[in-house]
Amino acid sequence: MADILQKVLQEYGNKDKCKIRDPTKVEAILQKLASDGPSKLQVITDFDFTLSRFHKDGKRCDSCHGILDHSPLMPDSFREKAKALYEKYYHIELDHKMTVEEKIPHMITWYKGSHNLLIEAQVTKQKIQEMVLTSRALLRDSAVNVLSYLNDHHVPVLIFSAGVGNILEEILHREKAFFPNVEVISNYMLFNEDGECTSFREPLIHMFNKNETALDNPDYFQDLKNRHNALVLGDSIGDLDMGSGIHNPGALLRIGFLNDKIDERMDSLYNNFDVVLVDDQTFDFVNVVSRMVC
Ligand code: TMP
Repeated sequence: MADILQKVLQEYGNKDKCKIRDPTKVEAILQKLASDGPSKLQVITDFDFTLSRFHKDGKRCDSCHGILDHSPLMPDSFREKAKALYEKYYHIELDHKMTVEEKIPHMITWYKGSHNLLIEAQVTKQKIQEMVLTSRALLRDSAVNVLSYLNDHHVPVLIFSAGVGNILEEILHREKAFFPNVEVISNYMLFNEDGECTSFREPLIHMFNKNETALDNPDYFQDLKNRHNALVLGDSIGDLDMGSGIHNPGALLRIGFLNDKIDERMDSLYNNFDVVLVDDQTFDFVNVVSRMVC
């Protein structure tokens, strides 16, 4: 009898958007999350198109990179080259017929190429602030409430992103969502004394190395060693491993946001995430689960 799950779905109210392959397993995870409570919980979330919206009012929203790629503040030559890279590699990232091993070398080439373009363009801290203010990068509805609620209940949130950390942080600041419980692991631009980007911090994080090997703070999971339970939130198969550093993992609820190429990618997400939310631009499901645990 799936009691907690029924309650969660009722409160979420959008059953049609919520696909669950194994309701019995999800019920067991929810039971454990609820009985262990907030002191055992941590949240690990992807940023682009997981914490942030994929579309609004019929128009695509910006990812961290999208902000730069679409901004008139960047030189035309940058935008053209970035677009060419995106068109070549984005469909490889999503290609459900390629294995992760086959995709990785392409992702490394894409990310290195993209970072080099930003260095070449001498993008500055100040421009980043301006670009973020005028961008179409938006957090999902209720995401700020969830982050605030988790902060109130002392639940740590790790934002694990293959985007650009400096940009992601600017968005969080703009939305007043950079709560003290939030930690970010991402690709950070390093600047010279004139505020221009001259390099990126190592290690490079791409879509398919989002695991404990990409942590620049190896103590992160050690410090949370008593928090065995987690919500792991992502929009890609590469996000499934974000919790691989959790000590003695207990109940992990993996929630996948299916935004793009829905028919093609449904099977892949459905078979790998515990819960798949189809074209839901809100954080309502995460909100309901968080309130059920804390
Ligand atoms: P995420 O880990 O927060 O989802 O961020 C990575 C996303 O950024 C991924 O979907 C690919 C995308 N991306 C671009 O849009 N342009 C780029 O130049 C690069 C390197 C990544």
